Amino acid sequence: MKFAFFDTKPYDRPAFETHGAARGIEFKFLETKLCEDTVELARGFDGVCVFVNDTVSAPVIDRLCEMGVRILALRCAGFNNVDMRHAFGRIHVLRVPAYSPYAVAEHAMALLLTSIRRIHKAYIRSRDYNFSLSGLTGFDLHGKTVGVIGTGRIGRVFIDICRGFGMRVLCYDKFPAKDLADGENIRYTELAELFRESDIISLHCPLTPETHHLLNAEAFAACKKGVVILNTSRGALVNAEDLLSAIKARQVGAACLDVYEEESDLFFEDNSGHILEDDILARLISMPNVIVTSHQAFLTEEALENIAETTVRNIADFSATGHCENELCWRGSAAEDCKCGKCF
Ligand code: NAI
Repeated sequence: MKFAFFDTKPYDRPAFETHGAARGIEFKFLETKLCEDTVELARGFDGVCVFVNDTVSAPVIDRLCEMGVRILALRCAGFNNVDMRHAFGRIHVLRVPAYSPYAVAEHAMALLLTSIRRIHKAYIRSRDYNFSLSGLTGFDLHGKTVGVIGTGRIGRVFIDICRGFGMRVLCYDKFPAKDLADGENIRYTELAELFRESDIISLHCPLTPETHHLLNAEAFAACKKGVVILNTSRGALVNAEDLLSAIKARQVGAACLDVYEEESDLFFEDNSGHILEDDILARLISMPNVIVTSHQAFLTEEALENIAETTVRNIADFSATGHCENELCWRGSAAEDCKCGKCF
């Protein structure tokens, strides 16, 4: 089988080449992202393989179908960039539901520690032989309350890490896990209490119409003054303009962002020679208490290996049997867990 692999980065190729060769799947590596302007590049391929910032809108899906492309293999977990309702009945959407929850959860903690212990400032100072400690005072995580929104695979690993630091955990999830709360240090609650009580809030839920701008001006106003916001999930969970205002008003004490609502034209690329047009992102980056990484949380050797292995297995299983446990239904559920009865 032949697949057009969009938005290729050098670190993607080795594992996909190895696993693809082992299963007879040939990848054509393209640097461009998939969108309406580039979809023609998929002509002649059995499927396309895409990542988080490729645009799989209704017109793109229609064009793929007209060209006979029948498989959309996502090499990521999130699928908010795919018009799932339109895809239903037209193209089979396969994804990698989990590749390393540790990669993302550990990155979230790395950002948090960097921020609250001012490591980003200290690193720059010591390179300039400035060994002053003024302005570097942090705070202990031990005994603090962390609010975790989304207690799925990544959220739960993050909670384990936080418990290792002796933190109290407040959780919010639309579908709370039955085996997580311990009645003492880990407890489910409503968003209002989570906002009110948390010293740190970390987002680990998917982006859906319901969670779009979950953290907005109203939410920030309901938070503890000085709250630290962590977003390693999806950019549009946070209203960035409201976040900027809350930081300026000293309501939000610090923010660590691995994702950003308007990231798709910027993240993963070297823009150092360009003038940044996005004033909100530029202003956020200019803040001493904001750390931005460019959707890097997934990027570990283990995750890259798992992504390639699962993506290739998804394609091979589907082509051999017409079935794949990681196919998504129109609601975005895994087809085999889905109760919608409409998966095709
Ligand atoms: P998961 O599916 O295991 O967990 C998501 C949790 O969110 C579930 O427990 C679900 O019940 C909950 N949820 C769904 N709707 C909700 C709502 N309206 N309010 C509160 N909770 C809700 O997903 P996983 O693997 O833990 O990933 C979480 C997110 O992390 C993904 O959706 C993706 O956006 C992001 N991600 C980011 C990466 C990065 O490199 N920065 C890499 C991988 C994932």
